[in-house]
Amino acid sequence: MSQEELKAAARRLFVPNYAPAAIVLERGSGCRVWDGAGREYLDFGAGISVNSLGHCNAGVTAAVTEQAAALNHTSNLYYNRPSIALAEKLLGACFAERVFFCNSGSEANEAAIKLARKFSSLHHADHKREIVTFSGAFHGRTLAALAATANPAYQEGFGPLPGGFVSCAFNDFAAAEKIIGAKTCAVLVEPVQGESGIHPAAPGFLGHLRKLCDRFDALLMVDEIQCGLGRTGNLFAHQWPDNGAGGVTPDVMTLAKALGGGLPIGAMLATARAAEALQPGSHGSTFGGNPVACAAAGAVFDQINDDALLAKVRRQGAALAEFLRDAGRRQGLFAEVRGRGLMLGAQLTAARAGHAADLMECCRRHGVLTLTAGKDVLRLLPPLSLGDAELEEGMSRIARAAEDFAREVAAE
Ligand SMILES: Cc1ncc(COP(=O)(O)O)c(C=O)c1O
Repeated sequence: MSQEELKAAARRLFVPNYAPAAIVLERGSGCRVWDGAGREYLDFGAGISVNSLGHCNAGVTAAVTEQAAALNHTSNLYYNRPSIALAEKLLGACFAERVFFCNSGSEANEAAIKLARKFSSLHHADHKREIVTFSGAFHGRTLAALAATANPAYQEGFGPLPGGFVSCAFNDFAAAEKIIGAKTCAVLVEPVQGESGIHPAAPGFLGHLRKLCDRFDALLMVDEIQCGLGRTGNLFAHQWPDNGAGGVTPDVMTLAKALGGGLPIGAMLATARAAEALQPGSHGSTFGGNPVACAAAGAVFDQINDDALLAKVRRQGAALAEFLRDAGRRQGLFAEVRGRGLMLGAQLTAARAGHAADLMECCRRHGVLTLTAGKDVLRLLPPLSLGDAELEEGMSRIARAAEDFAREVAAE
């Protein structure tokens, strides 16, 4: 089939819930991908924070092919080596003592939500089942994850949604103090909000939530599905020291996206005390702990859990943010550039509000794949394995795209 035929078939065959750019990607290697017409792009979106080691990373490919030839699936009735090895690695690198594997971010959050409710049902009276989430949060598309995502744009038409979720203004210390209380069984928060436009938690905010959770014996649950696994330049985003006295220790963390290096896998990690709530029969997933996905994730984790790589992410992230501020100033494009490490959002000025998708399209025309977050923010999540020369090349392509954009979308 030609590229045009493929696109026509996709439009005819798929549920129309996505609106992809009209290109068919055929091949990827490192930080670059190629479309069917042979055009090359630098991938500064990394499959929405999934391809953190770029495309077709040699270590991941080797782990996957070896495991695929040995054992593909065991079900949860039996143990398998790759899932045990991955659990050892993850738990050795953070606060958590137990892990539950699933297939996506939404499922990881569903598991966290169910854990919080079950834990509370075992330890507390009936009234203590509320889960506090935040304005601007995104936790996924399954019904409970959607209920935790207090955004009418995502929720509209899907009601009735599961109850027991209360939304608090993000980074509002006083509002959190008012809302978190005796009814709260858990607080679910992204250390850096992704979908709403790259908003890091304010210094001390996660620490504040930790104190409130301790006061009311509620679980602090961090959603690191987009911001975890090296993306911010720390292995996990909650570990940044400015979150609260030297970092913050949650009770639960959810991961997905980058974990599988392109294969679908999610994880819910918890303290042993919290994890005890999920006894045999209480929760499960047919594919959770799949040996091939876990082998991929083991290879990913070995490469990301590396101080030199994380230092490079911090250095390159600072350079990319500086470049965006500079380019934005020259063209009068951006009101603010936010983020941490290689998780950056450039907020368009009021004069160009609503045109983030146009800027993304200009970037694509100039050979860089980027993302938006809402209508006003250009979002950049390049692979953590980005080379310095690729960063330079990406920045010069984006600079040309920004000039085009400034010309084409004149300030209104
Ligand atoms: C912070 C966060 N949580 C949860 C999800 C949902 O993950 P998935 O799409 O794998 O279900 C996403 C996806 O964008 C996310 O960014």
